[in-house]
Amino acid sequence: MKKLAYLFAMLFVFSFAFVSCGGEQATDEATGDSLTQEVTETATADFSKGIEVYKAKCQVCHQAEGAGLAGVFPPLKNLKDRQAILDNIKNGKKSANYPAPMVPVPLTEEETNAVADYVMSLK
Ligand code: HEC
Repeated sequence: MKKLAYLFAMLFVFSFAFVSCGGEQATDEATGDSLTQEVTETATADFSKGIEVYKAKCQVCHQAEGAGLAGVFPPLKNLKDRQAILDNIKNGKKSANYPAPMVPVPLTEEETNAVADYVMSLK
């Protein structure tokens, strides 16, 4: 009988661990939503459009939440110059710091502004 209780206890612990893992994954997959929530709470701004553009057009290189990829793609965090971001999107960028240049990303004016606002919010 003791064994059975132990078994149930373990089952409970495992299922709990499983559920919390699943929960984490769900928020990962829905980074957009959780990000929107986080940002909205602190800055009462809605970056949903910018996040959507970022995920579709920038994330493949600059990674989730602008983390970047060491030596290859710069992080997009704590950027101060919004105009430079607009320029980089429109005209691309080639410096000596990275092996490949950034090519221009064709976006509408609205998309460009929305994604620039979002990038400016990344810390
Ligand atoms: C194909 C990969 C790629 C994509 C897609 C891409 N970038 Fe870049 N980006 C780069 C690279 C590489 C650099 C660094 C260029 C250099 O300095 O030579 C860069 C640089 C930048 C910089 C300058 C960073 C700094 O520290 O000054 C900004 C801002 C930027 N990208 C924003 C964006 C945004 C916003 C998008 C989406 C609209 C985007 N990038 C899409 C590859 C990419």
